[in-house]
Amino acid sequence: MKFFIDSADVSEIKRAAEIGIIDGVTTNPSLIAKSGRSFEEVVKEITTIVDGPISAEVTAMDHAGMMEEAKPLIAIHENITIKVPMTEAGITTCVALSKQGVKVNVTLIFHLNQAIIAAKAGAAFVSPFAGRLDDIGEDGLQMIAETSAVFAQYGFDTEILAASIRNSLHVKQAALAGADVVTMPGEVFHKLFKHHLTDQGIEKFLEDWKSVPKSK
Ligand code: E4P
Repeated sequence: MKFFIDSADVSEIKRAAEIGIIDGVTTNPSLIAKSGRSFEEVVKEITTIVDGPISAEVTAMDHAGMMEEAKPLIAIHENITIKVPMTEAGITTCVALSKQGVKVNVTLIFHLNQAIIAAKAGAAFVSPFAGRLDDIGEDGLQMIAETSAVFAQYGFDTEILAASIRNSLHVKQAALAGADVVTMPGEVFHKLFKHHLTDQGIEKFLEDWKSVPKSK
């Protein structure tokens, strides 16, 4: 299972990547806007921090525009994955870029049928948005489980990238549902390490260690 960081904040990405188990990064237009920096500049910097797929999203709504926007992004680094929205133009762009050998992440997936379409289009990744489905009272993790079962049934090699992950429980549920990748904010990633029994255990071991006689 792969862990991606869902952020355009380079210090957040660096802090997580330094631990050594981050496999990639996802950004989106909202995250880039939040960073307050230029898109190309941020994406370029991320390629120097993480050696793995880095999703950069196009904002054009037509196929020609998406292809135009993708060009300079692809030129930044071989690890750039082009993120396209789940629209007819996005899917046409996914087919065209995948044929050129460019990895595509189809984003804003909220239904199994959309995931199947993206896989048929040759997407390297599909991004089901678990949290946003949960927000409206639907079961985001159930959708990931369905996608995982159907992809296995038809032998699609598109990776399921569980997105819109809001907490540690989502990460565990995404793993159980068969997600290949979970992308999460740094805050969620760091929480995965924590358990109060781990903290208590360390405290006790260190306390007991103080009574161990030191060799001379
Ligand atoms: C994924 O690639 C998206 O950037 C992200 O997971 C969206 O999450 P949100 O619903 O918390 O904005």
